[in-house]
Amino acid sequence: MKVGIDLIHFATADYYLGLDVFAAEKNMDVDKFYIGIGQEKMSIAPPDEDIVSLAAKAAAPILEQIDANEISAVLFATETSVDQSKSAGVFLHGLLNLSKRCRVVELKHACYAGAAALQMASAMVRANPKEKILVIAADIAKYDIDTSGEATQGCGAVAMLVTESPRIIMIEPGSGYFTDDVMDFWRPNQRTTALVDGKYSTKVYLNSLKQTWDHFTEQTGKRFEDIDYFCYHIPFTKMAEKAHQTLVRKVGAKLTPDEFKAQTLPGQLYNRIVGNSYSASLFVSFVSLLDNLKENIDNKRVSFFSYGSGCVAEFFTGVMQPGYQSCLMTKSHQQQIEQRNPLSYAQYLEFYYQAEQMVENIAYEVNNKGPYRLAGIEDHKRHYQKT
Ligand code: CAA
Repeated sequence: MKVGIDLIHFATADYYLGLDVFAAEKNMDVDKFYIGIGQEKMSIAPPDEDIVSLAAKAAAPILEQIDANEISAVLFATETSVDQSKSAGVFLHGLLNLSKRCRVVELKHACYAGAAALQMASAMVRANPKEKILVIAADIAKYDIDTSGEATQGCGAVAMLVTESPRIIMIEPGSGYFTDDVMDFWRPNQRTTALVDGKYSTKVYLNSLKQTWDHFTEQTGKRFEDIDYFCYHIPFTKMAEKAHQTLVRKVGAKLTPDEFKAQTLPGQLYNRIVGNSYSASLFVSFVSLLDNLKENIDNKRVSFFSYGSGCVAEFFTGVMQPGYQSCLMTKSHQQQIEQRNPLSYAQYLEFYYQAEQMVENIAYEVNNKGPYRLAGIEDHKRHYQKT
């Protein structure tokens, strides 16, 4: 039985901060960002946009193409949880008016949970082919002002419909995985921003890649040459480049610079201008690959490396399904990215601090131009609106 992603759609916020504006504000050389970390822009969520409204914006175009009553489960992966008890997926379930005959759960492990949700959904469909599962990976990446992480913020949500006989990609059974209890990036309950040991985190990321690769090859017998395109978790695109260099060196592959680029570059283009979206970022890379490749990649194999600080990592593969191109929502992705409004550094700070407030009552000013928004909080209860 083939199981995998039948439809996939990505959403991001309506605003961005250019790293040229950021560099000027901080009196730094812009190439530190354009070249040094490989980032140009970061999507910035206004206070009336959170992971639930982003997730709804990502999922709605998928639901319009199917009978939404058939969704049997929502698996919502996020590091930017909005409640310590109620899952973000239940807010989404209400907002999208999904069937009550549905289960909903939130999954967390830093940036890894999206891959975990996809694997779990695939296993559920293999066990019962009638299942149609909505997998969401959504995050707003936020660090303290004036820290090394500040330039690597961003936000996004990816919605994936996981079914039998998928039209986009079949997820192959067998993967390599790795867990190690380390403190490279974490967010204690009382904080809205992540703490990070930045340089250490890049080392743990690369070690996790090597560990998962070894396990993946043992488990599946697949070789580097069997994979056509490589998608990585992308906190910033230079990290993905370093990851691919590490893998190429490890397996001793002889690639020309053009071959190296062809395997990874299309899968970095959106991430470069959206920024980090934690659990969503690997799937933003996949969407970027599909939307930006010139050629058709029917039957080609794509690999996915998911890394969640702390840390849990997984390496797995999928095979593109013939005809997948007719199911892509490229135009919607491109329009969202192109139509974002630029922010000055002062406007960005205003959004940053407003969204930071922990309040029991607030009605948010309308800044979110998307189809769903966080209208406000009343008696600690979040209220969402279809606009
Ligand atoms: N022109 C060109 N390049 C320049 C430059 C210039 N003017 N100035 C600096 N650079 C280069 C540096 O040489 C360096 O290159 P290398 O990495 O190849 O050595 C690069 O720019 C970065 O500069 P710094 O070494 O000074 O590092 P930084 O202060 O920018 O910090 C970081 C980098 C630690 C990764 C920081 O961005 C950070 O803390 N980010 C958040 C944590 C993170 O994303 N970690 C990634 C792994 S963990 C993960 O993946 C999970 C997750 O999503 C968070």
